[in-house]
Amino acid sequence: MKDFREMKRRGEKITALTAYDYPTARLLDESGIDIILVGDSVGMVVLGYSDTTRVTLQEMLHHTRAVARGVKHALLVADMPIHTYDTPDQAVKTAKQFVEIGAQAVKLEGGANHVAEIEAITQAGIPFMAHIGMLPQSVREEGGYKVKGRTQSEAEALIADARAVEKAGAFSVVLEIVVAEIARQITNAIDIPTIGIGSGEHCDGQILVTHDLIGLFPWFTPKFVSPAARVAEEIRRAATAFIERTRSGNALSNPSRASSE
Ligand code: KIV
Repeated sequence: MKDFREMKRRGEKITALTAYDYPTARLLDESGIDIILVGDSVGMVVLGYSDTTRVTLQEMLHHTRAVARGVKHALLVADMPIHTYDTPDQAVKTAKQFVEIGAQAVKLEGGANHVAEIEAITQAGIPFMAHIGMLPQSVREEGGYKVKGRTQSEAEALIADARAVEKAGAFSVVLEIVVAEIARQITNAIDIPTIGIGSGEHCDGQILVTHDLIGLFPWFTPKFVSPAARVAEEIRRAATAFIERTRSGNALSNPSRASSE
């Protein structure tokens, strides 16, 4: 495992992206990404759920197994889905299941309210990535995906959360949709790296949902993402070309290639 605290000390930015399948994991790993997260965002961008609260442990384990086969260099972190870490014992049991199938670290959503679970995981020797700010697993209670750190009390709570997860043994903390100035203050307040998503440029690293980065989920793109590719358009273009070729009777334009495969 890379020394992420040391990267923070040196001012070296940490890069992280999500993967849910073998080819994507392998491509990201070959590109030199530092961290690959099997995020429970799989529920939305792959499984078609409206939010992440329906993602099950079995689904996360299934996708983590596939990703683990494709990762050689990056740190492989797996998301613990909702209600799989309600007590310290349950959290350790869940974390161990991910480690057994190839995850090198786990992540759960929460700060000071989950210190007991985080301590149990880190004391069991399992590297842990924290996640504070906007918590997608709480979207129903929150009534939407809202920016965090807008009020003084929210900002103070976030700084307290960051300190609490650091003390509990986290090696890094994701800051999701936190006001950029508060993300900067959190980054300065703790020694473990902050990995931002929609939280401005002052974080020690950045993470994105790969489908957002490459334009593979065109029906919704978060405001803070500028897609670097338009993969959905390429898929539509290739599928349309195939449909037209097939319907016009030109499907096997290169029969020698077809017979040799
Ligand atoms: O599930 C996920 O992809 C995540 C990232 C957005 C940090 O938790």
